[in-house]
Amino acid sequence: MLRYLTAGESHGKALVSILEGCPANLSLCEEDINRDLERRQEGYGRGPRMKEIEKDQAEILSGVRNGKTMGSPIALRIPNRSTELFDKAITELRPGHADLAGALKYNQKDIRNILERASARETAAKVAVGAISKKLLSEFKINIFSKVLEIGGAKKEKEWKKLIDEAKEAGDTLGGVFEITITGAPVGLGSYVHWDRRLDGNFAKALMSIPAVKGVEVGLGFSQAAMVGSKVHDEIFYNKEKGFFRKTNNAGGLEGGMTDGQPIILRAVMKPIATLKKPLKSVDLVSKKACEALVERSDVCAVEPAAVIGEAVVAVALANAFLEKFGGDSMTEIKRNIAGYRQQIRKI
Ligand SMILES: Cc1cc2nc3c(=O)[nH]c(=O)nc-3n(C[C@H](O)[C@H](O)[C@H](O)COP(=O)(O)O)c2cc1C
Repeated sequence: MLRYLTAGESHGKALVSILEGCPANLSLCEEDINRDLERRQEGYGRGPRMKEIEKDQAEILSGVRNGKTMGSPIALRIPNRSTELFDKAITELRPGHADLAGALKYNQKDIRNILERASARETAAKVAVGAISKKLLSEFKINIFSKVLEIGGAKKEKEWKKLIDEAKEAGDTLGGVFEITITGAPVGLGSYVHWDRRLDGNFAKALMSIPAVKGVEVGLGFSQAAMVGSKVHDEIFYNKEKGFFRKTNNAGGLEGGMTDGQPIILRAVMKPIATLKKPLKSVDLVSKKACEALVERSDVCAVEPAAVIGEAVVAVALANAFLEKFGGDSMTEIKRNIAGYRQQIRKI
C-alpha cells in the first residue's frame, strides 16, 4: 500500500513529500522525477512565475541508495525559488479560491495563511510522488499518458492558443478538459466488494484532489445519458489466441470498479483560473468594505499542467490497486506474483 503526505507553502522554503510503501529494488534517480516536474511547469497561458522564477528540481533525501529504492520511506524536497511574498499580509478576498471559507474556518485575519497552502503550487509535491509511482508501474509495462482535449470550448491547439491570447488581453482566464489514458493495466485491479476499493471511485477522488478540477468522466462519461444500452456496453468475445476480448472500449477500461484489461480512459474538467487580472468584485476580510479581489502573479490557463498532475495522481491510485493485488516488499516478489496471476488467468 502506497501512502504519501506533502507539506509546504507556495512561497515557503520548500515543498516536501514522503512516500511510504514503495517496494525495494526499483531503479530511481532524481531525473526520473525532475522530468515530470519540468512538464508541470510548461503550458501555453502560464503566468510569469513558472517561466522566470521556478525551475523545480527534487532532491531525494531518503529511501534510495545506489540508484535503487530500499523499501523505506522516500522523502523528497523541492526548494521554492520565489519566497518574497511569504510575509506579505492580504485581506482582499478572492472569489473562486479557498480564501473566505478558509479564513472563517481557521479563524484567520490574514488570507496569506490560507492561500499559501491552498495554492496549486502543492501539486509539484504530488507530481514528484506520482513520478515514482509511474516509474514503478512502467516496470510492469503499465504506462500513463495525458493530453488536453479542449480549452475555452476550442478543440484545436491553434484555436485555443488564440482564445488564451484573447483572454489574457481582456484580463480574463480559461479552463478546459484533459484526458488520461493508461495502457497495460492487467484485468482485476480494484474491486466491487467494498465502496472504497472501487478503482473508478479512487481515480475520481484523485483527479478531484487537483485544485480547480470540477468533474471527472470514465469512458463515454456524461455522453451516456443520451444513449441506449446497446450502443454503450462493450460486448464480450472469445478466441483461443486472444482469450476473452472486446471490440469496443466505451467503459473506459473499468467495469464493476475493476480494470477490465482494456486501456483506461479518464477525463477531467478544470474551471477557469479564479484570479483575474481584471479583478472580480469582493469584500475586504477585515474592514468588510467592498474591494477588488487580490491579484498576484497568476496563470491565464493551466489545463496543460493540470493534465501532467492528472497523470501523477492517477498513477498513485493505480499503483495502490496494483500493490494491493500483487504487493510484495521487492520488485522480484511482485514480478513473481504477477506472473503467477497471468498464468492463473490463462487457465480459467
Ligand atoms: C496547475 C494549476 C495551476 C493553477 N494556477 C492558478 C493561478 O495561477 N491562479 C489561480 O487563481 N488559480 C490557479 N489554479 C487554481 C486554484 O489553485 C484553485 O482554483 C483554487 O485553489 C481553489 O480550489 P478549487 O478551484 O478546487 O475550489 C491552478 C490550478 C492548477 C491545477
